Amino acid sequence: MKAMVYRGPYKIRVEEKPMPKIEHPNDAIIRVTTAAICGSDLHLYHGLMPDTRIGHTFGHEFIGVVEEVGPSVQNLQRGDRVMVPFNVYCGSCYYCARGLYSNCHNVNPNATAVGGIYGYSHTTGGYDGGQAEFVRVPFADVGPTIIPDWMDSEDAVLLTDALATGYFGAQLGDIVEGDTVVVFGAGPVGLYAAKSAWLMGAGRVIVIDHLEYRLEKARTFAHAETFNFAEYDDIIVEMKKTTDYLGADVVIDAVGAESDGNFIQQVTGTKLKLQGGSAIALNWAIDSVRKGGTVAVVGAYGPIFSAVKFGDALNKGLTLRMNQTPVKRQWPRLFEHIQNGYLKPNDIVTHRIPLEDIAEGYHMFSAKLDNCIKTLVIANPS
Ligand SMILES: NC(=O)c1ccc[n+]([C@@H]2O[C@H](COP(=O)([O-])OP(=O)(O)OC[C@H]3O[C@@H](n4cnc5c(N)ncnc54)[C@H](O)[C@@H]3O)[C@@H](O)[C@H]2O)c1
Ligand SMILES: [Zn+2]
Ligand SMILES: [Zn+2]
Repeated sequence: MKAMVYRGPYKIRVEEKPMPKIEHPNDAIIRVTTAAICGSDLHLYHGLMPDTRIGHTFGHEFIGVVEEVGPSVQNLQRGDRVMVPFNVYCGSCYYCARGLYSNCHNVNPNATAVGGIYGYSHTTGGYDGGQAEFVRVPFADVGPTIIPDWMDSEDAVLLTDALATGYFGAQLGDIVEGDTVVVFGAGPVGLYAAKSAWLMGAGRVIVIDHLEYRLEKARTFAHAETFNFAEYDDIIVEMKKTTDYLGADVVIDAVGAESDGNFIQQVTGTKLKLQGGSAIALNWAIDSVRKGGTVAVVGAYGPIFSAVKFGDALNKGLTLRMNQTPVKRQWPRLFEHIQNGYLKPNDIVTHRIPLEDIAEGYHMFSAKLDNCIKTLVIANPS
């Protein structure tokens, strides 16, 4: 089968790989129809994620058709159209029982923090991902869900991570009616977080980035006020000014490890790898939230420490909340919002490319060319 394969930082190819096989009775093999490239994939592509092995296939956002099921699978059968959350999880351990699917204790012997993620290096379990014609899905009775008939398949693939993560970011903010919510990052995750903040009762939503075309999307798709941080000496001062010098009630970091805007953070965080990523957006979040406010972090950071303004967070009495998204926990409510027409996830899709062109797709997304926001990858015609 054809699959996207990692050959080292900034080097990916489409190669022939052996077909994945049923390795456990509860596995399924999925024929991928559509996958997506995520901002998280860029951290891998840029060589920032430890233990990203040559030959690994990325892709944690995908939908497809069940090709084969192991003998113990009960909920799926060959031919079912399924959406697969990016988490690999067992569904029955201490953490899964509490809905913490992204922290499953049974799927990743390499780490005590993160659970399993498809196509996201051996740090998250070493599972090959779905930017391929076929993918092995463990615990097939737990994660995959049959795509409802009424759901657009592009919306389904966006639900496997980006939309669920943006919504989760807003949820972690514990937004109360009328709150002022600031979102750092106008990528797919930030755009969905901003849109979700309204659904949770926000009175004002502000999105910050330095890419004007993405801020434009934040205004039209998420109906947010926008600030381009490159246009101000100090974006924190602007946030203070616009909130009566109190600060925002809730701030969401939807940028993560490759945050721009501070030279020292970038050099130590992304070039020298002395930190688990550059923490500028997170520090800006801590600075721009009001005392007693909440900072929600869904932007991803690497396993080691980062230079975060922890003392300021303490002295301001902040609540800091974060996690990798437990995707399936978000689905029931998001399905309702989509069905009721409050959300049209694929409004942010800018590119649709065949799997053969995926190297170009990564380059375009990484360099933010051609006004790229979200790229879908067609692996097999549906
Ligand atoms: N927690 C999770 O489960 C989860 C899931 C999906 C993605 N993520 C993470 O969320 C983050 C965003 O993902 P995405 O797909 O939207 O990525 P993206 O790369 O498309 O978007 C990131 C945006 O942040 C902007 N940015 C850079 N520095 C900034 C700063 N200092 N202030 C404000 N904006 C800044 C960039 O210009 C870009 O538009 C990534 O770190 C990704 O790994 C986490
Ligand atoms: Zn993702
Ligand atoms: Zn588990």
